[in-house]
Amino acid sequence: MNRFLDLAAERRSIRKFQDRDVPDEDIKYFIEAAVRAPSGCNSQCWKFVAIKDREIIKRIETAVIEELDKILEIKRSQLSEDYLNSKRKAVSFFAKAPLVIAVFMTKAEFYDKTMVLALKERGLDDKGIMDLFANYDLLSIGAAVENLLLAIQEKGYGACWMNEPAIAAERIKEILEMDKDDRFISLIPVGVPAYTPRDKKMKELSEVFKML
Ligand SMILES: Cc1cc2nc3c(=O)[nH]c(=O)nc-3n(C[C@H](O)[C@H](O)[C@H](O)COP(=O)(O)O)c2cc1C
Repeated sequence: MNRFLDLAAERRSIRKFQDRDVPDEDIKYFIEAAVRAPSGCNSQCWKFVAIKDREIIKRIETAVIEELDKILEIKRSQLSEDYLNSKRKAVSFFAKAPLVIAVFMTKAEFYDKTMVLALKERGLDDKGIMDLFANYDLLSIGAAVENLLLAIQEKGYGACWMNEPAIAAERIKEILEMDKDDRFISLIPVGVPAYTPRDKKMKELSEVFKML
């Protein structure tokens, strides 16, 4: 029995959902799983917002589509209506899910202040220091989101981790009344899947793994 491998393999991105509510106790379970993830310096540099309010979801959808249209404006004369419509759908399908979880990243402080001062003397700023440590704040968010997705899968729901809505990051932050330093990362639509996804192409293990 390989329960974990089965769960990890069964988790797939789901982009269409049945019209069925996700009860609050299930949402709480997903978040409890997410916040148990490891995080750099135990910073727990995350915030989650679970949104079921249709009006709020609609406002986010409008913001994302408007920002997409602004980005594509420069290419507008070369783009077909088909491309535009399919792109609008691709960035906004979250709005048809019964639940959308927004993920934000908060400031993560490096635990060793002496090291930070020494690195600053060598000319690195805060961003340079984060880069040096492989952006452990973003890595931590990744760990939490994967926990979240696996908990969602375990409870019989589907979800899709979406970063494209970040084109409207500032507007989403405002709509959800987040703090100034919170950085929008992702939207995750969640619900009972309305279809079974096709098998995905996988790289061979030998391409991505070696044993020495
Ligand atoms: C960081 C990240 C961002 C993603 N952003 C999007 C997105 O904006 N829109 C989307 O439809 N899928 C998005 N995906 C889903 C990927 O397309 C999907 O995970 C990949 O094709 C593998 O398919 P699977 O999730 O079914 O295994 C994202 C996945 C990750 C990990």
